[in-house]
Amino acid sequence: MPTSLAKIGKSFEKDLQGATDEKRLSDIRVKYLGKKGLLTSIRKSFRELSPEERPAAGKELNSVVSKLEKALEEKKSQMELEKGSSVEKGWIDVTLPGKRPPLGRKHPITQTWEEVTRIFMGLGFDVVEGPEVELDYYNFEALNIPKDHPARDMQDTFYVTEEVLLRTHTSPVQIRAMENHPPPISIISPGKVYRCDADITHSPMFHQVEGLKVDKNISLADLKGVLEEFVHQYFGEDTKLRFRPSFFPFTEPSAEVDISCVMCDGMGCRVCGHSGWLEILGSGMVDPEVYRFVGYDPENWTGFAFGMGLERIAMLKYGIDDIRLFFENDHRFLEQF
Ligand code: DAH
Repeated sequence: MPTSLAKIGKSFEKDLQGATDEKRLSDIRVKYLGKKGLLTSIRKSFRELSPEERPAAGKELNSVVSKLEKALEEKKSQMELEKGSSVEKGWIDVTLPGKRPPLGRKHPITQTWEEVTRIFMGLGFDVVEGPEVELDYYNFEALNIPKDHPARDMQDTFYVTEEVLLRTHTSPVQIRAMENHPPPISIISPGKVYRCDADITHSPMFHQVEGLKVDKNISLADLKGVLEEFVHQYFGEDTKLRFRPSFFPFTEPSAEVDISCVMCDGMGCRVCGHSGWLEILGSGMVDPEVYRFVGYDPENWTGFAFGMGLERIAMLKYGIDDIRLFFENDHRFLEQF
């Protein structure tokens, strides 16, 4: 028995020396230590020994088994070490420039938000924000849109309860701002809004910026002046504006503002439906009825308000034709900004 163990040990050492990869190493493990391996068959042969002989033989075999296991382990770590040290062997050129990790950047909507905010701050507006989960009162009622008023159909609303909803526009911030601040007031309010609507130009969540200015003797001319300055700074000096009569329950008179098409310079193309104009926002003179809700005296104060979609103006400026691109976070899209 000892002679055959010694023999096995010798042949194992020879095999181990010849092993050049992990596959060979694993073959060796099977050959000696596997279920049908050489050492395992020796253990089986112990059945033929007398009970007195067995303990000593077992002990000797176990020590050989652990020696082999240790040798296999060492050989394996040596192989791994050699694999990892390719720098020392000169396989890697450490002078090659590294791979640049892709840099993060601001989302195009964040960039638009910041640019719009910067322009209006330059025109003397303060920035205030309001809650996205809003009371029916602020979102509708105090904006002169009573319950069951048909104007509620202009906006498909996500309701939380009967009195609580996800705001459908940033206009409720007007009310909150006026409640908390006596006139004069001059604010813009950017933020997320929600509507039950989804297609290539509508998203259930999108962004608006609201504007409000109330002071002595504010007129439609002030509204026109401020919006013209904004449009020229955001879209370019040559962009023309057009005020079109419209209706909003919280402004009287109301106007929608169009700009000359940024794609065709007003010549008429597919984007502007061959009209040469693109609608960008809603606006008007604050309805005296709204002042009643916030305790401003309509005899002493007048003001204007406007609201526009950030996705909308960004889509027009950059020629983006699908609003969903903003929310898919595809790097190929985001990297262009
Ligand atoms: N809140 C309107 C909307 O979401 C936009 C708007 C129109 C806001 C006229 C205004 C305004 O402040 O005066 O469609």
